[in-house]
Amino acid sequence: MSMMIFCLPGNELLADQLAQAIGATHGELSMRQFPDGESYIRVVSEVKGMEAIVVCTLHRPDGKLLPLLYLCRVLKDLGAVSVRLVAPYLSYMRQDTVFKPGEAVTSVYFAKLLSSFTDGLITIDPHLHRRSSLAEIYSIPSTVLLAAPLVSAWIKANVKDPVLIGPDNESEQWVSEVARDADAPFTVLDKTRLGDADVRVSVPEVDRYMDRTPVLVDDIISTARTMIEAVGHLKRMGLKAPVCVGTHGVFAGTAYADLLAAGAAQVITCNTIPHPSNGIDITALITSALKPRSSVGPHRSNEPTQH
Ligand code: R5P
Repeated sequence: MSMMIFCLPGNELLADQLAQAIGATHGELSMRQFPDGESYIRVVSEVKGMEAIVVCTLHRPDGKLLPLLYLCRVLKDLGAVSVRLVAPYLSYMRQDTVFKPGEAVTSVYFAKLLSSFTDGLITIDPHLHRRSSLAEIYSIPSTVLLAAPLVSAWIKANVKDPVLIGPDNESEQWVSEVARDADAPFTVLDKTRLGDADVRVSVPEVDRYMDRTPVLVDDIISTARTMIEAVGHLKRMGLKAPVCVGTHGVFAGTAYADLLAAGAAQVITCNTIPHPSNGIDITALITSALKPRSSVGPHRSNEPTQH
């Protein structure tokens, strides 16, 4: 069946590259906002009988969600056989439980919304902390791709004698994976989050790595407070200025500038979210998930997939 790729504004480059890589057509849309702020969406291309792929990375999701849902629904109404969402960064994964009475567990609500407007989801390293699989909250088939091999390859090619450091216990799952593939040692710091932008890390045992280049690895850099605390701590311990690697560079407000100012030697992210720090290309990883099963790249085996 022929595939047609659509994208929301800001995702054109990835959508073009994917279309080229899998030999799909880049579908034409007309999207704008009415003067009152409501969304206008028109699908110009003929999609009847097609498998539609919608590319939309989901950082700062609130302004994107309605147009995305409208687009997915109209594609179905126009006769697309299926509508799959490619969201390299999947938002609303961090509020995954009730921390204080009365809180909305938005990861569940968000999953229900996306599941009712799309037929499948492809994403990269979603923040699965207290959940083991997207299938716990998403009722559509999902493919979870892993950036770890790409991050390891970047570190191997660019950092001499690295020691990989996870800024908190949660990061151990991907730091250990990245370290294994990069043939490098790793350690993990203890983190306490006191507020949205107030994070403390405790004394690590990294003094034995004085001659190595520290590489801080995390899945998300949002306010960058986690990385900034870790950078400060490593500096106080007398280690070299660290390289900071994040899969998803969300960079809220001045986070990127703050992290560089805090003493990071370099900040590198995957292009799951377009940003000047993008140094690791995930296009081929997503392409592999859109191609037939035989050529599928690394992904979590416990996820139901489209293939
Ligand atoms: C935490 O659960 C994540 O793995 C990251 O450490 C966290 O999202 C980073 O957030 P921030 O940049 O706001 O400290």
